[in-house]
Amino acid sequence: MKREDIDQILAEINNLKCKTQKEVEDARVKFLGKKGEVTRLFEEFRTVAPELKREFGKSLNELKQTVAARIDEMKANVGTDEAASGPKQDLSMPGEPYELGSRHPVSIVRKEIVDIFRKFGYDVAEGPEIEDDYHVFEALNFPPNHPARDMQDTFFVSTGHVNPLLLRTHTSSVQVRAMEKMKLPIRVVCPGRVFRNEAISARAHCIFHQIEGLYIDEDVTFADLKQAILLFAREMFGPETEIRMRPSFFPFTEPSAEVDVSCNICHGKGCNICKGTGWLEILGCGMVDPNVLEASGIDSKKYSGFAFGMGLERIAMLKWRVNDLRHYFENDMRFLREFSTAVEV
Ligand code: DAH
Repeated sequence: MKREDIDQILAEINNLKCKTQKEVEDARVKFLGKKGEVTRLFEEFRTVAPELKREFGKSLNELKQTVAARIDEMKANVGTDEAASGPKQDLSMPGEPYELGSRHPVSIVRKEIVDIFRKFGYDVAEGPEIEDDYHVFEALNFPPNHPARDMQDTFFVSTGHVNPLLLRTHTSSVQVRAMEKMKLPIRVVCPGRVFRNEAISARAHCIFHQIEGLYIDEDVTFADLKQAILLFAREMFGPETEIRMRPSFFPFTEPSAEVDVSCNICHGKGCNICKGTGWLEILGCGMVDPNVLEASGIDSKKYSGFAFGMGLERIAMLKWRVNDLRHYFENDMRFLREFSTAVEV
């Protein structure tokens, strides 16, 4: 046994840095265990020359105390193994809340309307938002100088040719596309975004949403239109709802009508929502003009049909009485969260 053996262990234990309790325990075994280095020195002590025994004995005892104290110190200061491998977890804590998104009010209304017409046997069709003049105006019987074709009302994407590209101003363009490619009879609803060159205010926006409906078959009459709209209105606004049709004009339908539903707030007595009339306007409709059928290659002598179109923001306004259109487009979370209970799981 040599002096250096003691010094070496001392140096080792002083420099030792344990990070986990397991490392502390390993160090204890390495130095103080049955076959540990300090224990081995005690065994070798027996062979030390008698005149050196006193000095070595003292050093050995000091070494053992130093090692034991150092190990105790580390044992007290080093965290648990779990702590070393990550933050302490309290498994009884509630989990991280998982935030559910919610449908936008316009999406809720669109889904409700589409679901109602699906029940009536309608398919869903979609068409492009960037359309051409033909599908938005010409095939729908708009005369060449109709004001809707004016730059004032329509956003043009390209001008200067016969069939300029533009942002569709209504989803009626999708009925043309449906007539072009679907087999008869046709029964579709076409939801989508539409664009108009309007100054943004509480009552007007340059983007909004519509749903178009189209039904074409043999012997479709105005009575079928009226019945379809009545059934829809009762599904949408409640079984007591009445409808009234007022004569109107659209280039693509003849005859045309605007439809009001009885005010479900005052039930006809008159309130500020229905402006005292007892009625709320919800859509435009009519019998598809024979010119429109013929333009898409449908024999207007054999087939007839009806069409209707409604604004989704308008229906959402009636449903939730949010009367500023801009709220529907600003994506203010405080507004959107108002509809989170309407989410379907
Ligand atoms: N396209 C019309 C609009 O944007 C709405 C409309 C009215 C659609 C009558 C129709 C209809 O299909 O028959 O104001």
